[in-house]
Formats: sequence, C-alpha cells, structure tokens
Amino acid sequence: MRLKRKDLLGLADLTPEEITLILDTAASLKEISTRPIKKVPTLRGKTVVTLFYEPSTRTRMSFEIATKRLSADTVNLTVAASSAVKGETLADTAANLEAMNPDLLVIRHQASGAPHFLARRLACGVINAGDGTHEHPTQALLDLLTVREAKGTLSGLKVAIVGDILHSRVARSNVHGFLKMGSEVWLAGPATMLPPGLAALGARLTTSLREALTGADVVMMLRLQLERMGQHFFSTLREYSRTYGLNPDTLAWAKEDAIVMHPGPLNRGVEIDPAVADGPRSVILEQVANGVAVRMAVLLLLSGGE
Ligand code: CP
Repeated sequence: MRLKRKDLLGLADLTPEEITLILDTAASLKEISTRPIKKVPTLRGKTVVTLFYEPSTRTRMSFEIATKRLSADTVNLTVAASSAVKGETLADTAANLEAMNPDLLVIRHQASGAPHFLARRLACGVINAGDGTHEHPTQALLDLLTVREAKGTLSGLKVAIVGDILHSRVARSNVHGFLKMGSEVWLAGPATMLPPGLAALGARLTTSLREALTGADVVMMLRLQLERMGQHFFSTLREYSRTYGLNPDTLAWAKEDAIVMHPGPLNRGVEIDPAVADGPRSVILEQVANGVAVRMAVLLLLSGGE
C-alpha cells in the first residue's frame, strides 16, 4: 500500500488505515537498525532538508539517522546560524531551500501551523516535527507503535496522559491517534492545563491523577513546558510534583502490567520519579528506538515507497 499524501502535518488528518500503514511499515523497517551495516539503498538520490527553529535532541537526531539508514542525503540548517537571524522570513527561507530542489522538508517551529503554511506553498513534501502547541505527529506515531508492541493491540486500552496538556503538541497528536485506533484516552492535570476542546474530540478530562491512573494500561507523563508559560498555572513545583508526579506509589493505581511512557526530555523528580523512569515498566527508551523506525517509514511512504 502507498500513502497518498504529499505532507505529514498531523494525526488529525490521518485515517486509521493510514496510521496502520505507517506503523506496519515502521515495524518492518526496525530490523534494518539491528544489522551490522544499518543501511539500505531505498531512498538513494533523494534529499531531505531539516529545519529546526526550536531545540531538539530525539526528533532531529532520529530524522537524520532515519534518512541515512535509507541512503538519502540529509542537510540540516542550523537556524541560529542561518539568515533567519538577519530577519529572513520563514516563507523566504523555505522558498530558497526549495530552489535547491529537496524532496522532503522536515520542520519544527514555535508557531502552530508553520508546517501547514509551508505545505501550501512548496512543491516538496513537508513533515511536521512539532509546531507550537499544535501537533507532533511522528512522536504520536512512535508512541502508538511502542504501545502496540507492548500490548499487542491499541483497541480497548485505557491510556492516561498526565501533566501539562495545555502546551503539549505530543498530547494533542496522541489524543487524535489513540482515539482513532480505538483506545480510551484520559487527560489529567491541573484545571488550568486541561483545554476543554480535547473533551470534544472524545478524551476524558480530570484533575484527579488517581482517577486517570486507575485501571490504566498506559501511563504517559509530560514535562511542564515552563518555556511556553507566560503566567502561573500552578502554585509551586513541589506541590505540582506531589499532586501529579508519577512515583512507585501513584503508579500502583494503574494496572499491574501498565507501561510507563514519556516523550522526553524528562524533568526527573518533577513529573516522574527516577525509580519509575528507569524501572522495569518504563518503555521510554523503546519509544526513542521506535522513533527511528517511524521516521524511516514516514520518509519512505512520503517518497512514494510501499
Ligand atoms: N520528544 C521530542 O520531541 O523530543 P525532542 O524535543 O528532543 O526532539
């Protein structure tokens, strides 16, 4: 099967069949990363440009590794050292990069909708690597793959996503993804961080960590995005951690075989206790490994591959 799209902008746009195609493709590509020579010639001759206007460790590195494993050429623009600092607009930067004829452009930007803006203007495919507080589709896809591997299915699971939901593009993409694949999604955090719009999509909102975690199959913790907060959303970090932190005692409310996830970066001792983050139920590093496979799948499918 082929993905009949030019761009990957969000999970809101994808059908369950398209999500399954990406996950199945990623699952089949995982094996390449275990070979002594971790490279196939599938995308030889293709050029992938990455453009990160916000910091990134996992997403940027895994896109670059995924590109190299498929033998495409990858070019990373370091925005802080680019003409963006001289005042060049995003549209002009992208148009100039496109004049060099890349096949795909991967963009992370602080403005929600920036990848959509470029996708309408550019002939090359655009992949959203995180836009403002809107979506982070490849993160949600790697999360879905990790849960499907651990649980054998996505249907009928209780998924609890906890923390700074308001500023989280990861939460937004995961709400779309898990609901489309038949999971029940609970969002927990302080009332100031629970956007009511997500209830309209079918997610359950609660300020009670215990209610969200009770009977959960999957517990996904989120970082407080202090860099996006222009006002106070909670009284103190200590109180936040006491009320919404995941530790061995609060994890006991979830099912015995519940898995623990986090998109990273972790704020150890704030939203997650190191005993849980590094414990036997954590799949946090499996998420990172699956990030390479999912990004390989997305690059392949958007390039017209099967
Ligand atoms: N999960 C995630 O997007 O991590 P980075 O910000 O390090 O890419």
